[in-house]
Amino acid sequence: MPSLCAPLVLASLVSALTPADLKHKDGILTPKDMLALPRPGPVVVSPSGILGISTVSRHSFETRKTIASLYLISLNETSGPDSQLVLESIPDRFSFSDPIWLSDKHIAYINRTGADVGLWYQDVSAKAGSQHSKIPRHLLNFPASSAPSSLKFLSSSGKNSSASGVLAFSAHVWKGYSIEETERLEKEYESRGDDAMVWDETYIREWDTWRNPAKVHQVFLTSFSLRDLEQHQVTNTAKPVFFSPFNASGIWSLMQPFETTDFDLAWDHSHFGRRLHVAVQIKDKYLNYAFNSRRQVYLTSIETTSDSLLGPSNPDVQMVTPGEQGDVSFITFSPNGSHLSWLQREENGAESDRNRVITYSLETQTLKVWTETWDRSPNAIVWSKDGNSIYLIAEEKGFTLPESRLLLGISTLTHPTENYILSFKAPKGGDGDKIPASELTQLTSWSHDGLSHVSLSAGEKFWFKGAHDHDVMGWLIPPRGFKKGSNKKWPLAFLIHGGPEGAWEDSWSTRWNPNIFAQQGYFVVAINPTGSTGYGQDFVTAIYENWGGSPYKDLVAGLQYVLEAHPEIDRERLAALGASYGGT
Ligand SMILES: *[C@@H]1O[C@H](CO)[C@@H](O)[C@H](O)[C@H]1NC(C)=O
Ligand SMILES: *[C@@H]1O[C@H](CO)[C@@H](O)[C@H](O)[C@H]1NC(C)=O
Ligand SMILES: *[C@@H]1O[C@H](CO)[C@@H](O)[C@H](O)[C@H]1NC(C)=O
Ligand SMILES: *[C@@H]1O[C@H](CO)[C@@H](O)[C@H](O)[C@H]1NC(C)=O
Ligand SMILES: *[C@@H]1O[C@H](CO)[C@@H](O)[C@H](O)[C@H]1NC(C)=O
Repeated sequence: MPSLCAPLVLASLVSALTPADLKHKDGILTPKDMLALPRPGPVVVSPSGILGISTVSRHSFETRKTIASLYLISLNETSGPDSQLVLESIPDRFSFSDPIWLSDKHIAYINRTGADVGLWYQDVSAKAGSQHSKIPRHLLNFPASSAPSSLKFLSSSGKNSSASGVLAFSAHVWKGYSIEETERLEKEYESRGDDAMVWDETYIREWDTWRNPAKVHQVFLTSFSLRDLEQHQVTNTAKPVFFSPFNASGIWSLMQPFETTDFDLAWDHSHFGRRLHVAVQIKDKYLNYAFNSRRQVYLTSIETTSDSLLGPSNPDVQMVTPGEQGDVSFITFSPNGSHLSWLQREENGAESDRNRVITYSLETQTLKVWTETWDRSPNAIVWSKDGNSIYLIAEEKGFTLPESRLLLGISTLTHPTENYILSFKAPKGGDGDKIPASELTQLTSWSHDGLSHVSLSAGEKFWFKGAHDHDVMGWLIPPRGFKKGSNKKWPLAFLIHGGPEGAWEDSWSTRWNPNIFAQQGYFVVAINPTGSTGYGQDFVTAIYENWGGSPYKDLVAGLQYVLEAHPEIDRERLAALGASYGGT
């Protein structure tokens, strides 16, 4: 869901309050308290699924700095919560990003220190205090000015399983030049003497970023030996070789870096693990970027030796999408590389069309659509370890762990994202369509301390009849201190979401957080009118050419319903709030 202009909205919300309102008051969660809560990123799981790493950032209003900390987390829910600090950013001096696992013992990350951008690693198995504990070690330097991001790593399979590996990442480079030439071209560009720009196509700006028409984002690969890691002595002094498998075919992204869900790598197990499959998705390069949402998936295979990637520098590239579809996302290989899967919208140009799950068999070169008759729209795919099932996730990211367990990030109206383990037992008798018995165990509690002084409302759902007699859902969050039956009257904050395809959900937000208003003494109502997601595709598309019609009628009917059901709400003090579509 594109949530338009939300950061701006947050800024104006904060500046409208006086400093006294922002001060920490006992028993109240103020906007400032909320913004200072730790913000955990997704957990990156080790190859064996026993450990995870997560980047947690914390903003301090005193120092006006944000510090990122990398934690090592045990993913064994029965042995209790256990996390250990591995790395911490130093404002203006050192920052890290994109943590990955190189092996079950070693993590690596992008280290930005001044102008140097390198890949560094640490042995996280070493006991605290031992000789090797937490000593950062250098692996390779990224070419200067190439802005690497979205690391993915695959260690070589088969007999020499820890011998070497392939690193993939997205970089911003000059079209038609090697990645090593980026810095020189950047300097020439900076000193070109004027700042006029000429575009001869329409895709020139996205949100707040102007595109440099001479630069593109490309996926690069490099390989290195892991034997050196084990011995804690870096012999990788040779200059790394960076290889862009899709360069010759002009498959690159004009505006955004590739994210980790926009490309994937897998070994071809039918070729003794010597062939590497690489898949990417990009906007259709033959259509006008500004007016089309169609994306295509491309696949290529590269021969390798145990230590290096071999050409050809111009490998065969195959387009595997049917061709006429809309948007494509979440490219994921099955564990043994036999299938490639992705999420696909049917309609070019539509942003809220339902996502279907597609798999492509590399062996038979055939496509299969899995969820044609399922009226819901998943936004993430996770393969089971055995490659026989796919888990579909709506909201947040998930990872499969050994022993029928899924690692999930879940937030609610009362807390930001925490990690949980969902363990499930398949029903006896092998009925694959039955929902397995499952159990959810909380693993992390990053915000426990920051929320221990307050009591937030979990919200109540209500349903009413909206436009065309449709059933419409809304949330009601009573104000802090509300007591049923008392005569006190309370003001109402009526929140309207943007998108317009999106929804108020049982989730946490630092942009529009219903409890923040409820904490200040407002009844909060947040309705999911026509156009909202999560209620089937017909409800979403009913907003087409009807922006001011049914959604408006739903909102008015919802307000009437709430006012009648809750005489405690003061009809003289009602405020509507929203941004983007919800603010117009
Ligand atoms: C998890 O921890 C429990 C208790 O410490 C232990 O018995 C079990 O073997 C562990 N499981 C895994 C997968 O490590
Ligand atoms: C980051 O890189 C710098 C050199 O560029 C090095 O001195 C420092 O130890 C590294 N830190 C970590 C945590 O990797
Ligand atoms: C891409 O291909 C062009 C033309 O063959 C070549 O000059 C350039 O160095 C290549 N760039 C990368 C990043 O591989
Ligand atoms: C495994 O590594 C050894 C030592 O580098 C090498 O001689 C051998 O050919 C490799 N085997 C395979 C199957 O790649
Ligand atoms: C890959 O996994 C699938 C699903 O488990 C299986 O059907 C297929 O035979 C496997 N292929 C190889 C080459 O191991």
